[in-house]
Amino acid sequence: MPALTTQVGIIGAGPAGLMLAHLLAQRGVESYVLERRSRAHVESRVRAGVLTHSTVEMLCEAGVGERLSREGIVHHGIELRFGGASHRIDFDDLVPGRAITVYGQREVVKDLILARLSDDAAEGQLLFDVSDVELSSAGSAQPVVGFTLAGERRQLVCDWVVGCDGFHGASRHWLPPGSTTAYEHDFPFAWLGVLAAVSPSAAELVYAFHDRGFALHSLRSLEVSRFYLQVPRAEDLTRWSDERIWAELRTRLETVPGWSLKSGPILEKNLAPMRSFVVEPMRHGRLFLAGDAAHIVPATGAKGLNLALADVKLLSRALVDWYEQGRTMLLDGYSDACLRRVWNVQHFSCWMTRLLHTWPSDDAFQRRLQLAQLQHVVTSRAAQTTLAENYVGLDQV
Ligand code: APR
Ligand code: PHB
Repeated sequence: MPALTTQVGIIGAGPAGLMLAHLLAQRGVESYVLERRSRAHVESRVRAGVLTHSTVEMLCEAGVGERLSREGIVHHGIELRFGGASHRIDFDDLVPGRAITVYGQREVVKDLILARLSDDAAEGQLLFDVSDVELSSAGSAQPVVGFTLAGERRQLVCDWVVGCDGFHGASRHWLPPGSTTAYEHDFPFAWLGVLAAVSPSAAELVYAFHDRGFALHSLRSLEVSRFYLQVPRAEDLTRWSDERIWAELRTRLETVPGWSLKSGPILEKNLAPMRSFVVEPMRHGRLFLAGDAAHIVPATGAKGLNLALADVKLLSRALVDWYEQGRTMLLDGYSDACLRRVWNVQHFSCWMTRLLHTWPSDDAFQRRLQLAQLQHVVTSRAAQTTLAENYVGLDQV
C-alpha cells in the first residue's frame, strides 16, 4: 500500500490526541490519529471526572462543549472530612468566579471522537485498532510512523509526530536514550475505584482522611456515583467483594453525625497504583510528547486530564504558528512551558495526596502532625485559598 502523508501524526486517541487533532483541524492543519484500541473500548474507559475552569473554557471555545454545558455538573466547593467533622472549601469565597465541573473523561472522549468523525475534511484520519506503531527517520524533516492496520503494514509520513499514547504508550521510548531525564515516584498505595448506580450521597466531592485510609466520594451524574478507596499497592481486586467495598466506604465516610452513604449496584471496580512521573524534555526534534505520555500526577488533585488538555492547547498553537508564520519560537518553548505547569501541578497533587492518605511507615507522631496540618488547612484562609486556587486550576496556559 502507498505511504500516507499528513502534517501531524498523533499517536493515541485519548483526550490529548483527540483534542490536538481537533484544535489543529480548526486551523486547517491536517493530522492522523493512530489508536491501538477500538472506538468502543476508548469510549468505555472510566477515568477522571473533574474539569477545571480553564478546561471547560477550552472545550467550549473549541466547539466541543455543548453536551458538557448541558450535562456537566458545576461544583462551587469540595469537602474535607476528618476527625468526625466536615469542612467545606468554598470556591465562591476563596477564588470568586472559578468552579469545577463534574463530567466524565469518557464523555469528553465521546464528544471529541464525534467531532473528529463529523469533520468531512478529516475523513479516515482517526484510525482505531492500529498495532505495532513505530517511529523511523525521527531525526529527519519527515519522520515516518509505521503501523499495522487490518493486517496490512502501513507508513505515515509526517512533518511532526506527537506522542499522546499515555503512560504505557510507545512514543516516550522513541526519545533517544540519554536525551531525557525521567523523574519517578511510586506511592505505597493504590486506589480502588468504584462506579455505582446510586445517586450521590453528598452535593459535592468528599475527601475523607481516616485511620484506615483515604476515601473519596465523587460522582458522574445525579444517578451514578464514583468512589475511591486507598488500598495497599499490591492489593488483589478479587479480595474486594461489593459488600466489603460498601462496608469500607461506610466506615471511612460515615464519620459525621447525620450523614449516611447510599449504596447500590456496582457497575465497575478497578485498581490503579498511585504514582508520579515526569519526563524531560517533552520533545526531541520532530517528536513531541503530550499528556500522560510525558507526565503522571497523583489523582488526588484531579488534574491529569486537565494537564493533558493544557499541553495540547499549547502545542496546537505552536504547530499552527509554524505552519502559518514559519516561526519555531513556540515549538522551541513548548517543553519548558509545559513543564513549569506540570511541576506546579505535580507539587499540588503530591501535597494533597500526603495530606489525605495514611502512610504505612508513619508512626503516631507523624499521624498527629498530619491531623495538625489538616486542621491548619481548614482554619487558615490562606491555606484554603492555596488549596482552592490549585484545585480549580491556575491559569494553566
Ligand atoms: N499505539 C497507539 N495507541 C496507543 C498506544 C500505542 N502504542 N499506546 C497507548 N495508546 C492509546 C491508548 O489506548 C489511549 O487511548 O493512547 C491513548 C492514551 O490516552 P490516555 O492514557 O487517556 O492519555 P491522555 O490522552 O494523555 O489523557 C490523560 O487520561 O488516563 C487518563 O488519568 C489520565 O486523565 C488523564 C488522561
Ligand atoms: C473522579 O471523579 O474520578 C475524581 C474526582 C476527584 C479526584 C479524583 C478523581 O481527586
